[in-house]
Amino acid sequence: MEVGGIQALRAWRKQQTGTVSLVPTMGALHSGHQALMDRARASRDAVVTSIFVNPLQFRTDEDFFQYPRPFQADLDVCEAAGVDFVFAPALGEMYPSAPEATVSSGRMGAVYEGAARPGHFDGVLTVVAKLFTLTKPDSAVFGLKDIQQFCLVKRLIVDLNFDIELIGLPVVRDDDGLAMSSRNEYLAPADRAAALAIPRALDAAADAASDGSPVGVEAAAETVLQAAAERGDLDLVYLALVDATTFRPCAQDFAGQALLLVSATVGGTHLIDNVALEFHRSA
Ligand code: PAF
Repeated sequence: MEVGGIQALRAWRKQQTGTVSLVPTMGALHSGHQALMDRARASRDAVVTSIFVNPLQFRTDEDFFQYPRPFQADLDVCEAAGVDFVFAPALGEMYPSAPEATVSSGRMGAVYEGAARPGHFDGVLTVVAKLFTLTKPDSAVFGLKDIQQFCLVKRLIVDLNFDIELIGLPVVRDDDGLAMSSRNEYLAPADRAAALAIPRALDAAADAASDGSPVGVEAAAETVLQAAAERGDLDLVYLALVDATTFRPCAQDFAGQALLLVSATVGGTHLIDNVALEFHRSA
């Protein structure tokens, strides 16, 4: 396995005769990331994992400096997953100066997670576009936990004509149901127990959706989350049932693919999760 910055990546990429898959990460790798790398390995000849904590996607009051950076442990995870090249550029290499040309994430990037974290998705799409340009991958693998990010990367690929197959991997959960996230490290044991209201709310929504109608689905999740908020376990940031393609709220007679999005703060830690649901009008 090679590890390097931009120059080493370019030299390595030139030598590749087969296909390449990219797994973009900010490090602090866990089994969820490992699943992404396994998927990349299965689909292409060579795998590049990028490890770069991208300042553009953090607001000044967010956890950029505090974000976990266990670099050696991350390299061990990559090695075990059979990664061929770990792209770990220095900050000054990726952004020699504050960029003037950036990617705008538009309306879809300004709602829900984008409203809670203004500018976040512009920063994500800017760095993802740079990673695509640098690694020239045939495919890229992203987790579906960050579903709004995934949908925006899908638009990035279409709107800016990247010739890349986008692969989404279902949310990987711990045994207790909590979606795996590098930020789970920040949760004290009591916070972690409190955070389980999120997967419970998603389960309640999925049960309510089993008749094929969106009626009552958001309310089912809201009941669970409100109870947790009243106990002081979490602060709900947003809860929304949206059309999976447009990210616009689902009407009561909506038919098609939808997403129930949840974001909550638990003990100061920002958590997100979602469940995909399918509706048909006749219910
Ligand atoms: O999902 C992440 O870890 C980051 O947003 C990404 C895609 C690596 C861009 O910095």
